[in-house]
Amino acid sequence: MNKAKIVVNASYVKGVAEKTVFSTFVEHMGRCVYGGIYDKKSAHADENGFRTDVLDAVRELDCPLIRYPGGNFVSGYDWKDGVGPVENRPTKLNLAWNQIEPNEVGVDEFMKFVEKAGAAPIMAVNLGTGTPQSAAELVEYCNCEGGTYFADERKKNGTEKPYYIKYWCLGNEMDGGWQIGAKTPDEYGRIATEAAKLMKWVDPSVKLTLCGSSGSTMPTFPEWDRKVLEHAYEHVDYISLHKYYDYPENNESRVADFLGSYLDFDGFISDMASVVKYVKCLKRSKHDVYLSFDEWNIWHTTRHGKGPEVRDVSVPRGEVEYDMIDAVVFSTLIETLVNHADTVKIACFAQLVNVLGPLMTKGDKVLKQTIFYPFMLASKRLVGKVYDVITECGNFDTVYGTASDICVCAVESKENELTVAVTSLKDSPIELDVQFENFPPLNPIEMITMADSDIHAKNTFDDPERVTLSTEKFTSEKGIILKPYSVNYITFKVQR
Ligand code: AHR
Repeated sequence: MNKAKIVVNASYVKGVAEKTVFSTFVEHMGRCVYGGIYDKKSAHADENGFRTDVLDAVRELDCPLIRYPGGNFVSGYDWKDGVGPVENRPTKLNLAWNQIEPNEVGVDEFMKFVEKAGAAPIMAVNLGTGTPQSAAELVEYCNCEGGTYFADERKKNGTEKPYYIKYWCLGNEMDGGWQIGAKTPDEYGRIATEAAKLMKWVDPSVKLTLCGSSGSTMPTFPEWDRKVLEHAYEHVDYISLHKYYDYPENNESRVADFLGSYLDFDGFISDMASVVKYVKCLKRSKHDVYLSFDEWNIWHTTRHGKGPEVRDVSVPRGEVEYDMIDAVVFSTLIETLVNHADTVKIACFAQLVNVLGPLMTKGDKVLKQTIFYPFMLASKRLVGKVYDVITECGNFDTVYGTASDICVCAVESKENELTVAVTSLKDSPIELDVQFENFPPLNPIEMITMADSDIHAKNTFDDPERVTLSTEKFTSEKGIILKPYSVNYITFKVQR
């Protein structure tokens, strides 16, 4: 049998994985808002039109932050269209996605949703067609007590207390030609700096994310990032990264290459961290800027495309049916984010429902796709102290370089539960030995596994629980059997 060994040493701590690494994203795109989180005609609609069945599943994912309202959508969005009496709100074109925007859900409705979801928002402002002034006015609407026009408007619209929104994005993917109001790095660096100044003058407690490159393959990466940081470094707290994976060269048979996606993801994070360090040094700054990977996921564009060219409120766009191998790759991306806990402080998988969603709705049913499960496990088990892990195992070649048969991270929670997350990228079982060094005694608690004999197995509305989690027998850290292409969470109690 294939063998693998990992060594976790208590003396080597990489950083602390924040809960905010397990955040998500809701955009006015496809059926994410209308027909996803919100559907006033659904049998599950609550008094605000939000689907309670979707909300129940979202609470299981336990995401601390939900980014909103875009995405590409935000670059043409006027937030003022989405507040006040619903009957007075304009119906507009959503030019980012060629849809109709009825403006039934706006800032105040979304804040109700996040509260019900047990989360907080990351609010994005429009720096495509929008202005620094409009961005500052939104901060006033959301975060000021009252006595000024926009804060009083919020009160008039039914919310007495400010929302105190802490996290904000300064636009979205402003480096991409597809973006409404796309900009050169100097144009964006300037407008982002001015918006940041005004937003922080309105509320000095806000934390701001600058748009970094919308992918590691952008021809302007990393120059874009260097330039925008040189403009805005002292005014921002995070820089964003976005990345979606598919089978390289759009060839579904290239499973091995797809499994190596984590190598590319890892490289992108390291490179971006280096650019941030360079600008910090250049500026002789004492201020730290961290990474916010605020869009990441698997997006099989060739298999599913962006959806039909129909202009309506709810159009299926980016609806991917995720299978077992997608869950495996998804799990390695989570482990990679966690292993970069020293620089990646926020990450949002994109998106929450229907659009690239771990949740899909059809009529009055909601389905948990395969990627739901690794995320749910991670958001519960991988918050805390991240240890460096030494791995000995086989490897294989991919277009991204040499990948290991297993991808690993090890995290100890505040409650002293140490979880070793191990994803097997091998097509046959692996016997795994886990060794601990410099730890007090550890007691095995449980091993949770996700696997299927068919790598393309999916959950469907007819067979919704084909691929879920199971608890495996586990009594010792020696001779643990990892099933082929599996996700494994092995948890110990540390006797401190
Ligand atoms: O998440 C879907 C889209 O992907 C977002 O709107 C955009 O930011 C990215 O290109």
